[in-house]
Amino acid sequence: MAAIEILPNIYSVGVVDWNVRNFHGHTYTTQRGTSYNAYLVIDENVCLIDTVYGPFAQELIDNIKEIIPPEKIDYVIANHVEADHSGALPSVMQHCPKAKILGTLKCKEGLYKHYYKDWDFQVVKTGDELKLGKRRLSFIEAPMIHWPDSMFTYCPSDSLLMPNDAFGQHFATSERFDDRVDQCALMDEAEKYYANILWPLGAVILKKIQELQKLNIPIKMIAPSHGVIWRKDPGKIINSYLSWAKGETKDKVVIVYETMWGATEKMARKIASGVEAEGSEVKLYDIATSDRTEVITQMLSAKGFIFGSSTHDNDMLPNIAAFLEIVKGLKPKGRQIGFFGSYGWAGGAIAEMQEMLKNCGADFTAAGVSFKYLPDKTELEDCFKFGSKFSKLLK
Ligand code: FEO
Repeated sequence: MAAIEILPNIYSVGVVDWNVRNFHGHTYTTQRGTSYNAYLVIDENVCLIDTVYGPFAQELIDNIKEIIPPEKIDYVIANHVEADHSGALPSVMQHCPKAKILGTLKCKEGLYKHYYKDWDFQVVKTGDELKLGKRRLSFIEAPMIHWPDSMFTYCPSDSLLMPNDAFGQHFATSERFDDRVDQCALMDEAEKYYANILWPLGAVILKKIQELQKLNIPIKMIAPSHGVIWRKDPGKIINSYLSWAKGETKDKVVIVYETMWGATEKMARKIASGVEAEGSEVKLYDIATSDRTEVITQMLSAKGFIFGSSTHDNDMLPNIAAFLEIVKGLKPKGRQIGFFGSYGWAGGAIAEMQEMLKNCGADFTAAGVSFKYLPDKTELEDCFKFGSKFSKLLK
């Protein structure tokens, strides 16, 4: 991706990673790839805001060279330590060794523990400013959105917020702005990003957005570190974040199961019919063949989840176990969870699923249904009734 001017003398100099399909240690599938965005402000002093993932360092430097020689960079703002944004920092600093890096105290500590370099580092906190010439930049600490070191950079003269990971999308595209891409794909990726990375941090995000609103700073453009820049209607993504952070849901149930010989799947389908009969939206996933990232995205807007597994060695099956391990970490407060599954001579899957999720913040009022071997007609009717009862509980 070549450098482009997003505002007078402010350039997007980041890179597109078209081929990445797994992120965060295979916890997130990035079917549409991603981008690592960095921004260059040209003024009396030159400032680079964030870098990119290490393997793309040369492309970043080549993009900067399209605008100025990299040795002219005076400041590098490190909004976030994580490797997808700081990986190219050592290469950048080789070009401008006298540049000062600015970031939070946690950022200073984190960068040292990543790269073991004694760079000139200035710790900044909320309200601090950096004067570049005609423009100035200010900083807003944003701890746990989504690392302790995270920070937003704001340019008051352009009402431009550069919030690093917040408001991002893993969305590789040759376009740079929200109004130039398919809106459904954009919001799908923004929601997926929130659900899979930020969901457990809803309370922190809500507080931070409210803090921004109290500061009453105008925001005309949001330039995140992944995906496209929000310029058409930045309020749209802010409102979506507010809704997600508040845990707003709809009358929707996501059923996720794993089956050994098909009995648990029969139960799943009947439970889904019971949910549907009450007018609730339902999504059904066999987790052994489904994309976990997509399933979690669907769960974000659901009021209830129903998890099923056949019993194997007195436990749940391995794919649902791996999935529930992720769900546990999401801390889906305010949601209802039900359970079901078929067993042979001894049960155990439901108890193990409940044990895994007992501290996740969701409610187990709906309990569960389990049957021996293949469910007969009456037992399938009980599955239908369970789905129906579960759906009623949510209303
Ligand atoms: Fe937290 Fe995009 O890294």
